[in-house]
Amino acid sequence: MINFDSKNRIFKLDTPNSSYVIGIVDSDQLVNLYYGSKIADTEGLEARSFRPRCASFSPLTNEHYTDSHDFSPDCAPMEYGCNGCGDFRVSALSIKNADGNTVTDMRYEGHRIYAGKPSAEPLPSVYLNSDSEADTLEIYMADRATDIRVTLIYTVFNALDAIIRSAKIENASQKPADIERAMSLCVDLPSMDYDLITLYGRHAKERSEERRPLAHGLQGIASKRGVSSHCQNPFAALVSENADEDSGEVYGFNLVYSGNFEFCAECDFSGTSRIVMGINPNDFSWRLEPGESFMTPEAVIVYSNAGIGEMSRTYHKLYNNNLVCGKWKTAKRPLLINSWEAAYFDFDTEKLVSFAERAKELGMDMLVMDDGWFGERNDDRSSLGDWFVNESKLKGGLGELIDRVTALGLKFGIWYEPEMISPDSELFRAHPDWCVHVPNRKPCIGRHQYVLDMSRKDVRDNIFDQMYSVLSKYKIDYIKWDFNRNLTEVACAKFPKERQGEVFHRFVLGTYEIMDRLTKDFPHLLLENCSGGGGRFDPGMLYYSPQIWCSDNTDPIERLSIQFGTSLCYPASTMGAHVSANRRTNYNTKKNVALWGTFGYELDPDKLSDEEIAEIKEQVKEYHKYYDVIHYGELYRLITPFENEYRAAWEFVSKDKSEALVTVVEIKRSFDNFFILKLSGLCPEKTYVIEETGEEFSGAFLMNAGINLTRKPHNDHDSYLVYLTEKK
Ligand code: DGJ
Repeated sequence: MINFDSKNRIFKLDTPNSSYVIGIVDSDQLVNLYYGSKIADTEGLEARSFRPRCASFSPLTNEHYTDSHDFSPDCAPMEYGCNGCGDFRVSALSIKNADGNTVTDMRYEGHRIYAGKPSAEPLPSVYLNSDSEADTLEIYMADRATDIRVTLIYTVFNALDAIIRSAKIENASQKPADIERAMSLCVDLPSMDYDLITLYGRHAKERSEERRPLAHGLQGIASKRGVSSHCQNPFAALVSENADEDSGEVYGFNLVYSGNFEFCAECDFSGTSRIVMGINPNDFSWRLEPGESFMTPEAVIVYSNAGIGEMSRTYHKLYNNNLVCGKWKTAKRPLLINSWEAAYFDFDTEKLVSFAERAKELGMDMLVMDDGWFGERNDDRSSLGDWFVNESKLKGGLGELIDRVTALGLKFGIWYEPEMISPDSELFRAHPDWCVHVPNRKPCIGRHQYVLDMSRKDVRDNIFDQMYSVLSKYKIDYIKWDFNRNLTEVACAKFPKERQGEVFHRFVLGTYEIMDRLTKDFPHLLLENCSGGGGRFDPGMLYYSPQIWCSDNTDPIERLSIQFGTSLCYPASTMGAHVSANRRTNYNTKKNVALWGTFGYELDPDKLSDEEIAEIKEQVKEYHKYYDVIHYGELYRLITPFENEYRAAWEFVSKDKSEALVTVVEIKRSFDNFFILKLSGLCPEKTYVIEETGEEFSGAFLMNAGINLTRKPHNDHDSYLVYLTEKK
């Protein structure tokens, strides 16, 4: 709900449990008066919000200056801090005007409040299923000296503690201007007593949680790799110092963007915190000709006063209902078997058909043919860009293979890496200038490949047409969309020198455009994004690709930190997780960990023993049995591997609280042989039956006294499920 108090010129944005208050001061500058747990009134907020001036070093906004007027942007919680007019903190906005300076000063001009939400086209964005889900406030601002205009956009959910923010920059002047910094959000909080939580990682170890107290000065995370990256996820949370899973104040920030990003927290001389998040200004600029506009990506802010777990559940609900699109938002995801760890590049039609036959016997739904089916691709040194079938491997072509697989009653999926080109490829020989490069410099090479310049329409059209001709001819239900290196030597000959700063962002827009065209032309297609594992796991990708391969690391023990970290803001339905053969742990634990995701297999089914076959058949039954509680239920992280090196535990509870599935993994044997686990999220008044033992307990008992799991297996890498249902 959004209210405007026109007398005091105050906007109040309310979600079920939070309030966000913006004021317009006399000089028409916009200030953030409050963001936190819900409050009823706004009186007194202004008096509390301004910090003491730093003597004459805090410059006063001048045009209304009187002895009694002392508004200084240096001491005010600015709603969208601009560069160069007395606000010395990290800016949300900096525009280089036609005179060449970057002084930017936005003042309130007007606003509009309406039910519903605009899209962020050409960017992916959160959407509403009905206008009654949220209201939107657009605040119109202008730099009165340069006639650059900004619209600050806030969509406020009625049933979730989430606010979506973005900004639209327009050039209403007669001269060109360059955006140097345009962040999606700026939030000024009146304290720095917070810990910052971020998700760091690398290839095969994505999204580990890291927590540190805020300190004076600048701190934050960023990517300059052209993608959101393995190394830092575009997610951060500020949490009160004592916050844990179940209590404390939490502000979550997540950017709906798959390219270079920046999250920055600056704590200044008064001990306040400014948060900005958006496209990384490093290597970014955007020329705005008169009349043109620029849309920032959306940022999703979630507030919780009931701990980190509640923040995660809000993100999960929002992404399941308002970000993931199309058929696969609600359709049951196929249980797939993928050829990568089973065969790598070494397969032919007969081997794949044999995989499919075994997979069918095991009860699986889809065969995915991974890397190696096209051009001359027998290893990772060639053929990216040549998206036509390698007939010496697949005799009879794709048609015969797909016919034989689908005749078994399986669906068929295929691997692509559309944004890449191998120097050893027909495409490169025909178009050596199509890779991202700087003239007269040899580009860096990564995994023997270059990156295609997706900012160019001719390049995009070529790749789209190649994919279209395969997808329109054959019965293909799924694409694994891979991306195996980062961008270097970024420039594009198609743009003049003053537009070279646009190339990183145009690359991302180009990728989104192809994904958009594909998912519109083939609405039945399920995309699974992948980037050498989880190097592009972000909400921008989730808009097109309902599931994302979490990591190339399929060891279930190492997967624990990856999946716990990922779950901070991404739901189970989005987390690509498979059981693979090549790891040290038993199949039971592999299955128990992979169930916390889309579930599938990554192994050669012809090499399974009879015992393993029987075990996997049971696992497939469990996948179906627990699908709903995992995919539509709510997650509670009970024991996290970031805090406990011996044991991890998590729980899914169905929305109506009638069933719960608890998973416990023994990371390494602890000599503490007494283990009571307290559950969460149940209904205290309901009675629950533990399926395995038939024991009955009230929800209150299970959550407060807990269940005794001492006698469960507790050797290294053991794991087990505890399934509870409401007594009818
Ligand atoms: C990296 C992916 O993460 C793997 O799963 C696999 O698809 C390979 N690329 C194929 O080259």
